[in-house]
Amino acid sequence: MNKDSNNSVHGIWGSRWIFILAATGSAVGLGNIWKFPYIAGENGGGAFVLFYLGCIALIGVPVMMAEILIGRRGRMSPINSMAKLAKEAQVSRRWGYLGIIGALAGFLIMSFYSVVAGWALYYVYKMASGAFVGASGETAGGIWQALTSDPLTLLGWHTVFTALVVVVVARGVNRGLELAVRILMPLLFLLLILLVGYALTSGAFAEGAAFLFNFDASKLSTDAALVALGHAFFTLSLGMGAIMAYGAYMPHKVSIGSTTLVIGFLDTLVALAAGLAIFPVVFANGLEPAAGPGLMFQTLPIAFGGMPAGVLFGTLFFVLVVFAAWSSAISLLEPAVAWAVEKGFKRWVATVAVGIAAWTLGILSVLSLNDWSGFKVIVNTPNDWGLFVDSATWQALAAACTSATGQTWFDFFDYLTSSIMLPLGGLFIAIFVGWVMKETHVRKELAMGNFKLYLVWRAVVRIFSPLAILLVFAYSTGLWKPGETVEVKAGAECELATYAAMPEGEAVAPVMVTPASDVPVEEIPAQESDVPVLEEQQ
Ligand code: PHE
Repeated sequence: MNKDSNNSVHGIWGSRWIFILAATGSAVGLGNIWKFPYIAGENGGGAFVLFYLGCIALIGVPVMMAEILIGRRGRMSPINSMAKLAKEAQVSRRWGYLGIIGALAGFLIMSFYSVVAGWALYYVYKMASGAFVGASGETAGGIWQALTSDPLTLLGWHTVFTALVVVVVARGVNRGLELAVRILMPLLFLLLILLVGYALTSGAFAEGAAFLFNFDASKLSTDAALVALGHAFFTLSLGMGAIMAYGAYMPHKVSIGSTTLVIGFLDTLVALAAGLAIFPVVFANGLEPAAGPGLMFQTLPIAFGGMPAGVLFGTLFFVLVVFAAWSSAISLLEPAVAWAVEKGFKRWVATVAVGIAAWTLGILSVLSLNDWSGFKVIVNTPNDWGLFVDSATWQALAAACTSATGQTWFDFFDYLTSSIMLPLGGLFIAIFVGWVMKETHVRKELAMGNFKLYLVWRAVVRIFSPLAILLVFAYSTGLWKPGETVEVKAGAECELATYAAMPEGEAVAPVMVTPASDVPVEEIPAQESDVPVLEEQQ
């Protein structure tokens, strides 16, 4: 990066391509390869995928343009860019709080993101050791179970990954990252194509593709709509300032519109390729599409285990997944760190502090997969909800009320950030650019050649995007329901008070006996859950 002229104190990207590479590096990550396939699987496939693609095109891309625009005009950390532009527009500098919430969201995402990236690191080593050669679904499942039930191993890899990220951010987002993205990103894509090729021979390609693309609107549950919207933000790194921070380092002459299109296109391509690589393997091996966060780790190793030179390709693949995660994680920390630097802290001090804090919070996500898998931060039933529900109460409730869902810390951080903080951030960013900033400034920064296209974009950012985000929120909370819905009211078995009121150790009334096994729930040990209870969550 050169440090020149009327530019950011943090430096400027060397060229348009380097900006595209860095922003794509931020966008393409675990969200595409790990998260997209598993949430598509959990939410029934086709309808979810179509809704998600719509969110990318109609909300994600326009909002990304808005975010880059704020960043480039502000030329500072998201927090200070927002405050600066608010001042320019003669409104309250409190708009800077939006940047603070964004930086917080990035930090929260980092806490669990590095745990998942840690899984990928572990798989590099497992792949290289040949553990998956000729592996069946059962072998792959076993290795996954063994990993997730072992907190110390998880913690170790979580630590390694966090350290890798801290080292880069501490030195300043620089050419090292640019180089990595330029070479490793295309390589990752090539390997995904190889996997899609393998999936073609798996015998279940058509089934996998149909699962992803067969549109059945009735399958789009209220919750799925919010998950899809949230994921559109997550996968494009929007709503929390990551792209805004990178936009601050973007050279002046570069066109924001066309650059954004490239990023959105590449990001979507990678996600769809990952889906097409994974689902045929799922169906060919009789696995469960809704397996949850372990989906990629339980399926792709089977593919590598069955192909020639699979150890080599498999190892390389997980190395590249780690790189993709790494180039995303860097941008998760950048908004908070850039702000601290502007406050006068040394870059490395700021990075180490934020890194240690995110690492510590990540311990909660590590424990969510094993020792604390029964503890639920939020519990929802058709007619009740509760916070911080202990394992015994949760197990009694879940046994009697089958529609109860509960979120572990891991689920909760994911939900809070992806489904709430990012879309809300996006909503306010759209409002800021659409309604608060002076139009002349917006137009000048965008410099779109095609005036009609500009008008369309402006209408989308001012009206369509905010409205669409609000509608999805309203829909998912039940405030707004198109068409008729039948309300399902459950009985006392779905009320938390039924269980919580009981004295310790007696949290189970006879009526809550699990019908299948006839074993009273109290005989089930509270910690029998090395199988992550994540799967119970929707
Ligand atoms: N977009 C990244 C991914 O898909 C995650 C991310 C979200 C990065 C938000 C930065 C900001 O993996």
